Amino acid sequence: MHRSLLGKIVKRHFSMTAELLSKQSSKSAEHHKRRIFSGIQPTGHLHAGNYFGAIRKWKELQDQGEDIILSVVDLHAITMKHEPKELLKNNLACTASLLASGICPEKSVLFLQSSVSRHSELCWVLCCMTTMARLGHLPQFKEKSALCGKEIPLGIFLYPVLQTADILLYKATHVPVGEDQLPHIYLVQELAKNFNSRYGKTFPRIEAMVEKSQSGRLRSLRNPEKKMSKSDPDPKSRINLLDEPKVILEKCKKAITDFTSKVTYDPENRRGVATLIDLVSLCTGKTPQQVCSENADVDTAKFKLRVADVLIEYLTPIRQEYDRIVKDPGYVQKVLDNGACRAHSIADKTWAEVRNKVGLNLA
Ligand code: TYM
Repeated sequence: MHRSLLGKIVKRHFSMTAELLSKQSSKSAEHHKRRIFSGIQPTGHLHAGNYFGAIRKWKELQDQGEDIILSVVDLHAITMKHEPKELLKNNLACTASLLASGICPEKSVLFLQSSVSRHSELCWVLCCMTTMARLGHLPQFKEKSALCGKEIPLGIFLYPVLQTADILLYKATHVPVGEDQLPHIYLVQELAKNFNSRYGKTFPRIEAMVEKSQSGRLRSLRNPEKKMSKSDPDPKSRINLLDEPKVILEKCKKAITDFTSKVTYDPENRRGVATLIDLVSLCTGKTPQQVCSENADVDTAKFKLRVADVLIEYLTPIRQEYDRIVKDPGYVQKVLDNGACRAHSIADKTWAEVRNKVGLNLA
């Protein structure tokens, strides 16, 4: 073969290989690019479970420079009967609480779910890909529908599909949540896989990020068999982020423990005491064993007073920051508007791709 022709073939081969490699590496970089998405319902006050199970982790990820999108999921909050004025107030309070907890609008995208209509649109497409049997098995549906008697709102049933749309719309790869959300994340993984195999690769692999420590499932102070929850009718079951010191003290005093007076950590057999130890451990960064040895000199009744002191010290700066932020609703609204703008630009791209792939777009 002529030398110059051989040279050309070799050159062409190498440039093609280089092009292929660069395409592959940018593809795999794209594949591995982490994007974090999470959401919180603006119902009632945020509590220590929300904070230690999710919000604190969001702040850590944000401060590490991760690409993170956070949504105040007001469409989820209307699945149960609600008061419109109350919801508006809760949206503001929830956003201000997140800001007071250290969520920074320059580092994280923070927006109101209902201001990006693509959530509802993608939700419908996904509804058409799931079955009633699959949704009926989800534990949170069983819990919530049990409270509704015979009149079960369809929104409660479809709630996890909307949650799936929230996550897929931003092509998120990681979802930091408390342990209670895991069944929903499994549904997200399934629906993403089904969509990809039906319409071609669109969504990345999704991983839940659940704290392994006690913060993944913080228990109720009044019934340690249950998780701490906004919807528990007993307000003493939870420590709210904005509780005044005297309220925190009262709640700690009334926390359910048992008939053993020593402070020992046994999350299986002494769940009430373990929850109090968990709270101290989460606020101070000490291990549960350290907390026990530092409190070996007191009984559980006195320990409750110390737990209150630790919580008051930890939560007071958050409450004070909240009081400052909430005085300026215009600022909170600006944060949400700006967040919605950024969320929109990502959501619109995904929605255009979905429409094309599903065959909803004539253009
Ligand atoms: P929500 O509003 O009930 O709770 C917000 C976050 O707080 C966590 N959490 C807890 N963590 C530990 N211990 C507890 N006792 C505790 N209680 C609540 C929750 O796991 C959650 O991470 N469906 C979601 C909101 C949502 C969402 C999303 C989350 C809608 N779309 C997309 C992630 C991604 C919910 O009701 O969270």
